[in-house]
Amino acid sequence: MAKVDQRKHPQKVRAMFGRIAPNYDRMNRVMTLAQDLRWRREVIQYAALPEKGRLLDLGAGTGDLAFEAFRQVPTAQIFAADFTLPMMQIGRKRKPTPIVWCAVDALDLPFADESFDAVVSGFLLRNVINLERSLQEQYRILKSGGRVVCLDTTQPRQNLFSPFIRFHLNSVIPTLGRWIAGDGAAYTYLPQTTQSFLRAEELADLLQKAGFCAVGFRIRMLGTIAIHWGVKE
Ligand SMILES: C[S@@+](CC[C@H](N)C(=O)[O-])C[C@H]1O[C@@H](n2cnc3c(N)ncnc32)[C@H](O)[C@@H]1O
Repeated sequence: MAKVDQRKHPQKVRAMFGRIAPNYDRMNRVMTLAQDLRWRREVIQYAALPEKGRLLDLGAGTGDLAFEAFRQVPTAQIFAADFTLPMMQIGRKRKPTPIVWCAVDALDLPFADESFDAVVSGFLLRNVINLERSLQEQYRILKSGGRVVCLDTTQPRQNLFSPFIRFHLNSVIPTLGRWIAGDGAAYTYLPQTTQSFLRAEELADLLQKAGFCAVGFRIRMLGTIAIHWGVKE
C-alpha cells in the first residue's frame, strides 16, 4: 500500500487553507509575478468548454479558474467546489456571477456519472492524500469526450536555473509568506510539496492509468509548473 503523506491529512490541509484564505490571491500574484493569470487562461482554453457546457473547478479555492471559465464561456454552467469554506466564502464575495459554489471532497464527489464536459483544477492535486482516487472521481463524472485539465507545480528538472529555483522555493516564498500572509509554515509546505510531487511525466502516466487518452502536458515557469490534460473516450 502507498505510504500516506501526513502533511496532506485532510484536516491539516483544510486548516492551513482556512488560515491563509484572506491573503491567498495576493500571495499567488506575488509568488508567480502574476504569471498564474496566464496559466489559468490556458487551462480554460485546453478545457475546450462548449457553449452551455458544464465545467467543474475542483479544489476551486477562491475560484480563479471558475471566474476565468465564466469570462471565456459566459453561457456555461460553472461549479466551483472545495472543502475549505473560508476560501470559497472569499471567492463568492469577489464578484456576482452565476457560478455555483459547493462544498465537496475531491475524493468522493457528490456528482452523477458523466455529468460534466470539463473538470479543471488549479494546484489541487499536490494536496490530495490519494491522487489516484481523485483522478478516478474526475474521470467518473466526465461525459464521453469530456476533458480534464490540471494546473499544478511539478518537481523541477535539473537545469541551469536550478540553484535560483531552489532559492526561490526554499527562501523567497517562505519569507513572502511570513510578510504577506503572516504564515511562514504554510508557505514552507508549498515548496516542500512541490519538490516531493511527481515529475510531469509521472502525472501524465497516472492520468493514462485513470483511463484518460490523448494525455499531454506543457511546462511553465522554468520547469516548476505543469499544465496536464486528457480526454475521456
Ligand atoms: C492551492 S489551493 C488552490 C486554489 C485554486 N484552485 C487556485 O487555483 O488558486 C488548493 C485548494 O484545494 C483544496 N483541497 C485540497 N484537498 C481537497 C479535497 N480533498 N477536496 C476538496 N478540496 C481540496 C483546498 O481547500 C484549497 O482551497
